[in-house]
Amino acid sequence: MADDNLKGQRVLLCVGGGIAAYKALELVRRLREAGAQVQVAMTAGAQHFVTPLSFQALSGSPTRTTLWDSAAEASMGHIELARWADRILIAPATADLLAKLAHGFADDLVTTLCLATTAPITVAPAMNHRMWGHPATQANIATLRARGVQVIGPEDGPLAEGESGPGRLSEPGAIVAALSPQAESAVAIDQALKGLKVVVSAGPTYEDLDPVRYLGNRSSGKMGFAVADSARRRGAEVVLIAGPVHLATPAGVKRVDVRSAAQMREAVFAAFPADIYIGAAAVADYTPRAPAANKIKKSNESLALDLVRTPDILSEVAAQTQGLKLVVGFAAETENVAGYARGKLVAKHLDLIVANRVGVADGGFESDQNAMTAYWQDGERVFNPGAKTRLADDLIELIVERLNA
Ligand code: CTP
Repeated sequence: MADDNLKGQRVLLCVGGGIAAYKALELVRRLREAGAQVQVAMTAGAQHFVTPLSFQALSGSPTRTTLWDSAAEASMGHIELARWADRILIAPATADLLAKLAHGFADDLVTTLCLATTAPITVAPAMNHRMWGHPATQANIATLRARGVQVIGPEDGPLAEGESGPGRLSEPGAIVAALSPQAESAVAIDQALKGLKVVVSAGPTYEDLDPVRYLGNRSSGKMGFAVADSARRRGAEVVLIAGPVHLATPAGVKRVDVRSAAQMREAVFAAFPADIYIGAAAVADYTPRAPAANKIKKSNESLALDLVRTPDILSEVAAQTQGLKLVVGFAAETENVAGYARGKLVAKHLDLIVANRVGVADGGFESDQNAMTAYWQDGERVFNPGAKTRLADDLIELIVERLNA
């Protein structure tokens, strides 16, 4: 990434003690490529995985490892180092480090630097997925977020110990990109949705054909999860009704996992009353009339499935306007995007519909990127294409505007 989005910035990279510490070496290189000056501080644990010398070679500055190094303190004391930094990036941020930061510990160099600084802090967590999902870690993350700390990742995928789940350190390039000035401004957002309850549906639904097979779709759930996270960061109480996806639950969001369209409908209505409904899920339009109790055996050359319409959750929600201030739908279209989207806006009695073109390269269902346009009765807004996390922030901003319109 030759982008110099960190030009002239002084970044203090604090490396925690996890296996992902090796990726922090690449991070130094990426930060420097992005124009930053980098100094590195390591916890004692981090030094079991990577040597201070490796970081020194890549950063061009001596690596700081302890509070008690008189030579290092003589050249730049730890308080000066905390002041030197324009921003602090902690990667990998272990569960232990997050806990210490959340509670204001200062028992080693890294925690002391973080307590002594006035610079913005970003953490990129990496740990076992159960440690990440533990209520203690989630509470620590929520505390840090509430204090304005930017959290990047973790990502879902295979973990070092042979398991899989949310816990992987985000890729160095993605971390550096998320540190851009735009991303920074997105972190310091107001609490415009405070006091409001938002229900978001996300992901696909799976309609079971028999005990081993189902009808599904390629929705990743990323957009809905990003929208839930964004609404939460704007101060809303958020309930996220998630179809079958393996994504980490955004901090502070109440998640209800469902499988089928019927279950999703039930969970959505159970979450009401609410102020805002955002239907980002790709709900199946048809479901088998009666799922087979046993595995369907192959017999004839062809097989016809008997499918019936599912309830349209979004239309039902919009029809019961009791207490709802805004109902937002999504439309995935392959052609005539504006025409079909506006048609759904009217037919489903929505306040807002967000359309995106699917079936194009670099956008839509499985991608991290998206291009979207929102339509309401007498207006529309084309969002700048970009990461789903940023688009989610833009959409929530529009929702705040429409609420106040
Ligand atoms: N939706 C819903 N319940 C359904 C189907 C869709 O709540 N049973 C919601 C989705 O969450 C999304 C919007 O409706 O917000 C999508 O509208 P829809 O008309 O179902 O889109 P498509 O399924 O793409 O419709 P079509 O196949 O007719 O284009």
